[in-house]
Amino acid sequence: MQDNSNTNAAQTKTWSGRFSEPVAELVKRYTASVSFDQRLAEFDIQGSLAHSRMLGAQGIISQEDVSAIEKGLNEILQEIRSGNFSWSLDLEDVHLNIEKRLTDKIGDAGKRLHTGRSRNDQVATDVRLWLRATVDDVVTNIRQLQTSIVDLADAHFDTAMPGFTHLQVAQPVTFGHHLLAYFEMLQRDAGRFIDARKRINRLPLGAAALAGTSYPINREMVAEALGFDGVCENSLDAVSDRDFAIEFTAAAALVMTHLSRLSEEFILWSSPRFGFIDIADRFCTGSSIMPQKKNPDVPELVRGKTGRVNGHLVALLTLMKSQPLAYNKDNQEDKEPLFDTADTLLVTLEIYADMLRGIEVNKPAMRAAATEGFATATDLADYLVKKGLPFRDAHEVVALAVRHAAGKGCDLPDLPLAELQTFSRKISDDVFAVLTLEGSLASRNHIGGTAPNQVKAAIQRARKSLGAA
Ligand code: ARG
Repeated sequence: MQDNSNTNAAQTKTWSGRFSEPVAELVKRYTASVSFDQRLAEFDIQGSLAHSRMLGAQGIISQEDVSAIEKGLNEILQEIRSGNFSWSLDLEDVHLNIEKRLTDKIGDAGKRLHTGRSRNDQVATDVRLWLRATVDDVVTNIRQLQTSIVDLADAHFDTAMPGFTHLQVAQPVTFGHHLLAYFEMLQRDAGRFIDARKRINRLPLGAAALAGTSYPINREMVAEALGFDGVCENSLDAVSDRDFAIEFTAAAALVMTHLSRLSEEFILWSSPRFGFIDIADRFCTGSSIMPQKKNPDVPELVRGKTGRVNGHLVALLTLMKSQPLAYNKDNQEDKEPLFDTADTLLVTLEIYADMLRGIEVNKPAMRAAATEGFATATDLADYLVKKGLPFRDAHEVVALAVRHAAGKGCDLPDLPLAELQTFSRKISDDVFAVLTLEGSLASRNHIGGTAPNQVKAAIQRARKSLGAA
């Protein structure tokens, strides 16, 4: 960024005749936001175009001025897109940089653009426009990740693995079923963004500094031109609240939190101790000292970056807390956490969708793990209940059988029938059907259950909701 303090009169610039000395150099740096809010430029120009057309339509400025402003802003847009715009720290933020350039180009007409407007309603509008577009990108990326999840689940709708509680083997599940749990989390996540979008999509312009404006403006016209669903109905609220940014960040923190859980599982499962999956080499790095290492860097970083996004949520909440109405400069601090949240989230979703396409599954290792830890013990208890034993008694019978098998160093289906029958005479040779992994899986045959045919049905519903069935 170019600091033009030595190249023009800005060196001695004061805000207005009201000030008797220029802003201190250090303060200028401290208060400027142009280094990061310049990414709002396209939206700032969109907002200004809609504002100036409304001013023209209402007869507040002349049509000649509107035409000059449109031409000037479109040229500036091209300068910015092509990287030929020189940003100046002296001009503090994106809004003043663009306005100054416009005035340099078109003179007095440029100075009329700010009629009936303040940077307070301007910045709130810019951020909402930017965030609305960002939400749409986020939802697109979530859908892509969900598609990867469903594809992998489809390939493993009947692949047996241990389901865990307390990270101890609990009951067999299919890998497809496990993956679809994350599809559901992401489905709610997408819903949160879609819902937040409704509240983002309201127009602050017209609120001016805080109280509205004395010009005969037409806010509905501006709202419609910018694709907003309506206007913010209270001017003080319009310029001062950033709850929409907090909501976005909260929804982002939840996505990251969900992905941190899957990441943790990928890290565990790709460790040789589990050996359930292999993550494609392009998502891993080696060690500079240990030649044998292949480290799951991507899931580790997703886990780590979750801390960063959760931190941004706390930063934004803390920023808003106790601010008196209406606008306060504190709000300039909303941008970096918000931008970084969006950047982190978008790239995480993108990389994750691709990483899932590169997961190799070691079915025998999953299967072997599912046969350890007495994963079908609950099935034996359920079997006894179906033969008339009260569940609590069945629970105790199975506990004793498990203890016996553990002593022998084998699994429940490895015990001979005669030995099983010493724990309950209700056990007969049909017991082995429920003690196998396939029997256990198939028996959980209801909506939301892990039976392979239910997983298939869930995959179909998922594809339909993604618009791909
Ligand atoms: N850069 C400022 C921000 O991001 C724009 C609004 C400035 N308003 C003001 N009254 N100083 O919030």
